[in-house]
Amino acid sequence: MAFRGRLDTANDFMLHGWAHSDDLPDLPVHIDIVINQKLACKLLADCYRPDLEAAGLGNGRKAFWFNPSEYFTEVENLVEVYFSDTDQLLDNGRKIIAPLSAKGDDSLPSLVSQAKSRWRGDEPDAGLTWGSIMTGDSFFDEVEKHFQFTAYTRILEIGPGYGRLLKTLLDRGHPFASFCGVDLSKARVDKLRRQFDDDRIRFEIGDCSQYKLSQSFDIGLCSATFEHLYPSIEQTLVNLRAQIDLNGMLFVDFIMHDENLSLSRAYFEEESIGGAYIRIYSLQELEPLFNHAGFAIQAAHPVVLGTGLQGETIRRMLICASARLLRRAKAESLMD
Ligand SMILES: C[S@@+](CC[C@H](N)C(=O)[O-])C[C@H]1O[C@@H](n2cnc3c(N)ncnc32)[C@H](O)[C@@H]1O
Repeated sequence: MAFRGRLDTANDFMLHGWAHSDDLPDLPVHIDIVINQKLACKLLADCYRPDLEAAGLGNGRKAFWFNPSEYFTEVENLVEVYFSDTDQLLDNGRKIIAPLSAKGDDSLPSLVSQAKSRWRGDEPDAGLTWGSIMTGDSFFDEVEKHFQFTAYTRILEIGPGYGRLLKTLLDRGHPFASFCGVDLSKARVDKLRRQFDDDRIRFEIGDCSQYKLSQSFDIGLCSATFEHLYPSIEQTLVNLRAQIDLNGMLFVDFIMHDENLSLSRAYFEEESIGGAYIRIYSLQELEPLFNHAGFAIQAAHPVVLGTGLQGETIRRMLICASARLLRRAKAESLMD
C-alpha cells in the first residue's frame, strides 16, 4: 500500500494529523497511536479537512484528532503514530511530549484562519444560534447560583454575537460597572455598538485567544463559541486567566453530546453548511485544560438554550469555573 500522512500537531491534549492511501483514495485509513511503546488506540482517520480535499486527497475525510493525555505516564512521553498494522510512521510521527510544558508544533496557520473565517462575516442573527433567535435565560439561571452581581462587577463576554446574553443581563436588572464584548466580526461589533447605547457597555473587535483588555474582569461569559476555537481552548483559557481577578469566575457552555460528556471529537463542517471548526470536549479533557490554565471547575450544569430551526432541542453543558492561585512557575510564564 502506498501511504501518505503527517502528524501536524502534537501536544498534551491533541494529536492531530492526516493519513491517506493512494491505492484507495476515497476510503479512510486506520492509524495506530503508540504511547510509551504501548498501543493506545487504533483510530480511523475519517474527519473532514477542507485543505486535504483541496490537495486532492480523495474526499478530504482523512484527518484524525486524539487526546493522548490519559495515556501519559512519564514526565516525557514517547508518542508514535503508524499506519495501522505496519511499521511505517507518519511524517513527523515520532514525538516526545512533556505534559504541562509541551507546546504544539502547530504547523497549520491556514487552518487557524479557516476556523475563524465563518465568524468574521455578517450572517443573519439567527444563523448564530441554530437558526432561531434565543434568550440567555437558561444560562443566567445557572450563573446566578454561583455569582452575585454588584455595582462594581466588570464583565467580559466572548463572542457576544447578536447580544443574546447581554440583553438577558439587562432585562434581569443585574447591576454592573462595565461590560466588554469581544468578537471577531467587525460587522457584528458595529451592529452591537448601535444596538446597546449605555456608557457601561462597549464592544471590541478581537480574538479571545489573544485579546488584552484595558482592565481586569470579575466574570467571563461565553456561549456557543468555545467549540469553534482551533485547535483547542487552551490558549484562550490562559489568556483569560491572566486578566481575571482572583475571585473571578468564568461561565462557558460546551456541546453536550451525552449527559456524561464522554465524547471527544473534532472536525470541520462542510463548506456548504458554513465550514466551521467544531470540537466536542469530554469532561475528562476539560478538567485538565481548565486546571492547567489556572481555573478550578466548580460545577457543570446541563442547560437547554432553546429550540433550533429544525425543532431540535439545543442542550449544552455550562461549566462554572473560578480563578485559582497559580503555582509560581505558571504565574511567571503568564507574565512573559
Ligand atoms: C455561534 S456564535 C454565538 C453567539 C453568542 N455567543 C450566542 O450564543 O448567542 C459565535 C460567536 O463567537 C464569535 N467568535 C468566534 N470565534 C471567536 C474568537 N476567536 N474570538 C472572539 N469571538 C469569536 C463569532 O463571531 C460569533 O459572534
